[in-house]
Amino acid sequence: MLHRLLPLLCALAAAASAQDGGQLFTASCSACHGLDGKGATGGTFPPLAGSPWLLGDGQRAIKIALHGLEGPVNVLGKSFNLAMPPQGAAITDENLAAILTYVRSSWGNSGSAITPAQVKAARAATASRATPWSAEEILKLHPLPLEATALSHVVSSYYSGAWQTLPDFSKLKPDSTEEEQTGIITVSKNTKPTNFGIVWTASFDAPTDGNYTFTLDADDGARLILDSKTLAEINSIGPMNGSRAKQGKVKLTKGSHPIRIEYFQLASNKGLALGWKGPDAKDWKWLSEDQGQGKTAGPAHANHPPIPLVPAPDHAIFYRNFITGVSARSIGFGFPGGVNLAYSADHFAPELVWTGAFMDAGHHWTDRGIGNEPPAGENVVKLSTSPALPESARFKGYKLDAAGNPTFSVKIGEQTLLDSWKPSASTLVRTLTASGGTLTLLVGENATQQGQTLSFGDKFTVQATGAQIQTSSGKSTLTLAPGKPATLTYHWK
Ligand code: HEC
Repeated sequence: MLHRLLPLLCALAAAASAQDGGQLFTASCSACHGLDGKGATGGTFPPLAGSPWLLGDGQRAIKIALHGLEGPVNVLGKSFNLAMPPQGAAITDENLAAILTYVRSSWGNSGSAITPAQVKAARAATASRATPWSAEEILKLHPLPLEATALSHVVSSYYSGAWQTLPDFSKLKPDSTEEEQTGIITVSKNTKPTNFGIVWTASFDAPTDGNYTFTLDADDGARLILDSKTLAEINSIGPMNGSRAKQGKVKLTKGSHPIRIEYFQLASNKGLALGWKGPDAKDWKWLSEDQGQGKTAGPAHANHPPIPLVPAPDHAIFYRNFITGVSARSIGFGFPGGVNLAYSADHFAPELVWTGAFMDAGHHWTDRGIGNEPPAGENVVKLSTSPALPESARFKGYKLDAAGNPTFSVKIGEQTLLDSWKPSASTLVRTLTASGGTLTLLVGENATQQGQTLSFGDKFTVQATGAQIQTSSGKSTLTLAPGKPATLTYHWK
């Protein structure tokens, strides 16, 4: 008999706890967030319905509920600058789990359930916290996913040249080509101020059938091609202030359409604004970092909104920009599992490794080239500051495998060094392979060596297998036999 009753009992228990969650929400949260989750007193308080702060990674919402939140925060496009008092002391793990499970599955929300064990773990991890979070602090720990734009599979190719009108890019060879994971095109990422061109190819994903309008403005020139037809073109040099902006209308079927944007910059300011409006839409949606009416990439924006870069669960993300503490040509990689690397192409070396959040692209989003951006996470370790290889070494670029893990390649005369990185649990595993002769490279400075393990402080070690480490006067080197791979494991305690 019991086996027949069990499913019924379980269903009853689930219904009872869902109801408890609702009742507890009414008692603990609804005064401010509203019974309908839209924010009490007509939206003076922030909404929980549809809020990205509440959904996704449950730890973010648990930690906000436990300790509160204060200062500026943007929820669904609206800014608040209020204070939510800590709720943790008054609510048990079980009850907070029930409340969060209720709010994450009410009013159209579709977040996963929160368990008492998750609340308990978050409470223990933040036990020393005595003040509410700021939005910035909580984002460093638990970043919000980037908002999707209508562009996907964005690939940008950079060209050098001084043009007065748009060149025939198909006849030119790009200096470099890279993928933009943000679905946003930007001219300020290019370090060059003048004399360059960029071509972006991507898919434009039309959400419905109907008439679409695109707007294009540029400093200097640009062309928008959709489904192989030119929709808008500014084919001369001049400023981006709205006076030269062009619009194009097109009827699209729902689904993805190939889009191509060509751009050149001769002198003075650089800028590109590309926006679109779907059927019946009032406002432009922007596919570019710059927005229309003349806002070009200019001097530093002190108050940039954070844009945390987050790797996919099974794919690394990379960031090519100035990183604090790394030589100028640095390439950052954020790996799944919260381990991160900043590699210096000037020094052929990993210079920084850290855990937790990867990078905030917000600063360089709005101005490439001014200032450095520090790692967004914790436990930053500086491995070295000197070149890892002799002066004759040349950086030859890098390749990514299917999971986005890099292999850097360096030529030293006739010799080649392949330097591959991948995450494993919460360590970084580096495989080094030399060809063309024995090769000695620097793997750390100011570390203490014990056997084949280097310690940097008391929280971080690097362990070698397959080749010998040697330390003298503060420099630790690894000697590679040709064709015999060696492995270094970077481990935080
Ligand atoms: C006394 C009023 C008050 C109570 C009670 C309260 N909150 Fe808040 N909550 C706020 C305010 C105000 C903010 C925004 C703070 C800011 O501006 O930095 C906020 C922000 C939030 C956020 C992040 C922003 C958003 O809208 O998603 C979450 C999640 C949240 N609260 C959940 C809860 C939960 C769950 C409870 C009940 C356990 C609760 N709050 C109780 C006032 C309150």
